[in-house]
Order: sequence, then C-alpha cells, then structure tokens
Amino acid sequence: SAEKSTDVVWHLASVSHDERAKLNGHSAAVLWFTGLSGSGKSTVANAVDKMLYDLGCKTYVLDGDNVRHGLNGDLGFSDTDRVENIRRIGEVSKLFVDAGLIVSTAFISPFLQDREMVRAQLNQGQFIEVFIDTPIAICEQRDPKGLYKKARAGEIKHFTGIDSDYDIPLTPEVHVKTAEKDIEACAKQVINYLIANHYIT
Ligand code: PPS
Repeated sequence: SAEKSTDVVWHLASVSHDERAKLNGHSAAVLWFTGLSGSGKSTVANAVDKMLYDLGCKTYVLDGDNVRHGLNGDLGFSDTDRVENIRRIGEVSKLFVDAGLIVSTAFISPFLQDREMVRAQLNQGQFIEVFIDTPIAICEQRDPKGLYKKARAGEIKHFTGIDSDYDIPLTPEVHVKTAEKDIEACAKQVINYLIANHYIT
C-alpha cells in the first residue's frame, strides 16, 4: 500500500559506530562542500578524497554524477526540488557516516535551512561544512559548462546566483577561497582541519 509502514521494527546494529571507527582507524563524518556552480566544489572534494585515500581512509564522494543521474534523476532545479535533492543526499550521507566512511558531498546546496537540517540529523561533529567561496564573477569567467552564458541569455531559468538564491554559510567549519590558491592547497586546508580536530591522524 502507499501508506507508511507502521509495523517496521528496527534491528539493533551488532557492530557499533565506535567499533567501525576503531577498525578503520579514523572517525566518520560528512564533508559538506557548498558553493556556486563552477566554484570548484567537485574538484576540491575529489582532491580531498584522493588525499584521504592515500592516507588509508575509507571514503566516498557523492556528487551530481552519481546522484542527479540516479537517485535524484526525477528532480529539477525549482526551490522545492532543490530542497528534496538536499534532503535525500542528507539521508544517504547519514547512512555512509553510519557505515564508518568519510563522505564528501559536492552540491550547491544553496539554502541555509536545508544545510542546517542535514547538520541536525547527524551527531555533534559529524557534519563539516566546507564553504567553497569563489566570487560569482570568477565562476562566470570559468563557466566550464557554458551555463552562466545560457543563464544570462535567459535560456536557463532559476540559475543559482543569477535568478535563484545562494545563502552564504555563516559559520562554515572550513572556508576555502579557490581564487587565491591552487587546488592542492585548498584540499590540504580541509585535510588540516581533519587532523587538527582528530578525525584522522
Ligand atoms: S542544488 O542546488 O544543490 O540542488 O544543485 P546541484 O544538485 O548541486 O546541481 C547543480 C549542478 O546542476 C547544473 N545546473 C544548475 N545549477 C544551478 N542552477 C540551475 N538552474 C542549474 N541547472 C543545471 C550545474 O551544472 C550545477 O553543477 P556544478 O557542479 O554546481 O557546477
């Protein structure tokens, strides 16, 4: 039936979260990259992921390629669809964190309220907001997919930063300025945060 199941009983996990962390040799968390289109979210997230892999960490990257084509293939870019996009990604991230991984998500996630909702679903310290702070003028200059050009021409509606809002993170755990340093230095900034706060050694 279409009704919500009321007779579902949760099984107690026999392997605890702490036991998984001990086996992996690091804590689990979500690195929540947020920023404008073309800001460098995916690039920095993948560079961080590679560094973590080289350090022997269990990781995974969630981005448009594996989420907007699959799980969220039914969603577009209206405000309602973006809220649902982030809600689902938040739920999936929580599962990955439960599984003991350091998961990097690379979505614009333009609304502060949605990012805070994901943060609230995780335990203290498991949500690490990484603000990829690149001025829109630079994103537009980069325009890797030619989308800003189309948005300016009115061919794409509701484009973030042009005719759809982006709420700037107020207190991100990591604040990365891609216009001021190279990708490796940006990624290292995230790694340094994880070391300084004892997620990894
Ligand atoms: S959101 O806002 O978090 O739900 O967006 P996200 O899932 O990260 O998807 C953003 C990518 O989709 C492309 N795209 C658009 N972005 C913003 N606004 C509109 N209207 C739009 N239409 C398509 C764009 O390539 C984004 O890619 P990134 O990697 O962010 O540059």
